[in-house]
Order: sequence, then C-alpha cells, then structure tokens
Amino acid sequence: MLETTSVPSDRYGVAAPPLDPARREAVTLEAVRRPVDDELDAFRDYFREAMRSDVGLLDKVTRYVLKQKGKRIRPLLVLLAAKCCGRVRETSYRAAALVEILHTATLVHDDVVDEADQRRGAFSINALWGNKISVLLGDFLLSEGLLLSLDHGDYDVLHALSDAIRRMSEGELLQIEKSRLLDIDEETYFQIISDKTASLIGACTRAGALSASDDEGHADRMHEAGEKLGLAFQIRDDLFDFDPQSATGKPLGLDVQEKKMTLPLIHALSRAGRSERRRILKIVGQDDKDSEDLRAVATFAEEHGGLTYARERMHALADEARQLFADFPPTQARDALLDLTQFVVQRER
Ligand code: IPE
Ligand code: IPE
Ligand code: MG
Ligand code: MG
Repeated sequence: MLETTSVPSDRYGVAAPPLDPARREAVTLEAVRRPVDDELDAFRDYFREAMRSDVGLLDKVTRYVLKQKGKRIRPLLVLLAAKCCGRVRETSYRAAALVEILHTATLVHDDVVDEADQRRGAFSINALWGNKISVLLGDFLLSEGLLLSLDHGDYDVLHALSDAIRRMSEGELLQIEKSRLLDIDEETYFQIISDKTASLIGACTRAGALSASDDEGHADRMHEAGEKLGLAFQIRDDLFDFDPQSATGKPLGLDVQEKKMTLPLIHALSRAGRSERRRILKIVGQDDKDSEDLRAVATFAEEHGGLTYARERMHALADEARQLFADFPPTQARDALLDLTQFVVQRER
C-alpha cells in the first residue's frame, strides 16, 4: 500500500500528462510501432497465412482484402500490451493475428449492414462481390481466427475475444433497433459503442497482457484502459462522418444516411427547441437524403455544440485511458501506448 494521501496515478513516478488537444506535433503510427517492429513482422506471417484459402474465389477476395491495408491498430495494441506486461511470446503473435482477422471479418459484415460501398479508400467487398460473398467471407475469417487460437490451446485469449465478438454483434443489433425508432439517448449511445467497438479494443489489450504474463491484475487494468481507448476511438470515428475534410476512405455522411444517430447529433438534439428537433428528426428519418439534407444535419450538429461536446468527451476518455496505461512500469512499450492513445484522438484517418 502506498503511503500517500493523494495516490499518484503512476505508481512508478511519472504521471501521464493529460492530453493536450492543441499539441502540435502529431504522433505518427510509425513512431508508435517502433518498440514492436520485429514483433509486427511475426504477426504479419500469421495473419497472411490465416487469410489463405484453397478455394479460388475466396483466395482472390482475401488477396484484395490484404491489399487494402488498414491501420492495424488492434494487433499493435496486443503487442504493446504484451511487451508492457512481460515477454512477447508466440501466443502474443497469434493473438495479434486473431484480433486483426476478427476486425476484418466484422468490417466486411458491417459494410453489408451499413450498405457502404467504400472502405479504406477503395471499393468495399460488398460493392465488388455482393452481399452473399461478403457474408461468407466474414464467416470464413471468423472461423479461421478462432481455429488459429484453438489449434494452439490459447484458451485465455480465445475467451477474451469470444466475449468481444458476442458484444460486437449485440452492439450492432442495438444500433439497428435504435435507428429504426430514431430514439436514442446518450446512455444508449455509450452502450452501443462500448459493445460494438470498445469490447474488441479492450480484448486486445487484455489478450496482450494475458499472453505475456500471469498477473490477472495487469490484465484487468489493461482491459479497462483498452475499453476507454475504444470509446474514444469510436467517438473519433463518428466525428469523421460530419467532417467534409475527412480522409478515412469511407463514405461521408453515411451514418446520418443510415439513420444512425451518434454523439454529436444526440447532444445537439438535446439542446435544440422542439420545432427544430422535429425538423431535424424528420430529415434523419427520411429513407433517402440528398447532400443538402446531409449538410443541414451536419450544420445543426455543429451549431448546437454537438461536435465540440463529442470532442470533449473523447478527450476525457482518452485521458482516462492514459492514466491507466501510465500505471505500468515505464518502458518504451508503455510510452508507445500513451502515444497511441494520443494518436487515436488526433488521427485524420
Ligand atoms: C474501423 O476501424 C471500425 C471502427 C471500429 C470504427 P479502424 O479505423 O481501425 O479500421 P482500419 O482497420 O484502420 O481500416
Ligand atoms: C463500427 O461502426 C463497426 C464495427 C465495430 C464493426 P461503424 O459502422 O461506424 O464503422 P465504420 O465507420 O463503418 O468503419
Ligand atoms: Mg459502418
Ligand atoms: Mg463509422
């Protein structure tokens, strides 16, 4: 027990400075990757191998998926969390591959659900090959990922990830239910993003910790930090939908088009008068919206402080994640986790 009246957030002496939203020098992913550059190579081999199939069509589609690389933040989190908690092992590489495979599977399914025709700056799988192949590809990837862990007896990792998959499906379904009713409050929004996004990111940091150490306390703290980071991550993603400058390679305004109400809009609606609220809900509820409709909703969200509010909540959550990461012994991997948190809220894609 520490004998201090005010417990420092970092037992090892260096408290994590709160995020500075105006911090000029942007954190690059390249710099964050540095402490685990070699480990990422090992991850890539597992990942590529799991994506391979003898079925010609499947192999063709997975090769297309591999070409459009994502940011690969989730395997990076697994490996950094592992290194931060102990020694990176083969289990850690497999966990890193598993999370990226699962993430890819859910994106392929998500684009079907959202009827999105772009992903990572290129056509989505459903746009090129249709919904049937997308659903089957997602299932193939999901089972490949699970087998990778099962075949090697990585049960702890598998448990953490299976729980995340269940929550992801629940989150996406709750979102559909709410968008049909156009009825969502802030609490429900947080429930949705916690399940559909933070669950997987929390499972990444947990799996990383479990793969490298037996310390349950470390795994729990890593998990909690990952979940906070995941919430901030999804708020950032939801802000992109309102940003005409966004460089995500995903369709702009798609959330509103799909009647998905996210934090900027939810907050703005809670601040608006009755008639304006009705006007905006009427637009959001239309099945088809033109660019003028989308612009009207975005302007409304901005003018009623929705974007500012969402940014504030995002930064507060990122600060909480940083405080939890700061509690680990000071290593390059620990500092990279702090920087990665900064990257998540500052990123432009
Ligand atoms: C997109 O995740 C899905 C969300 C949870 C918002 P990423 O932004 O990590 O996607 P890629 O893998 O880099 O394309
Ligand atoms: C996150 O929600 C999707 C998953 C957790 C699979 P979004 O629907 O906002 O993700 P993007 O914007 O399509 O990547
Ligand atoms: Mg989507
Ligand atoms: Mg999105």
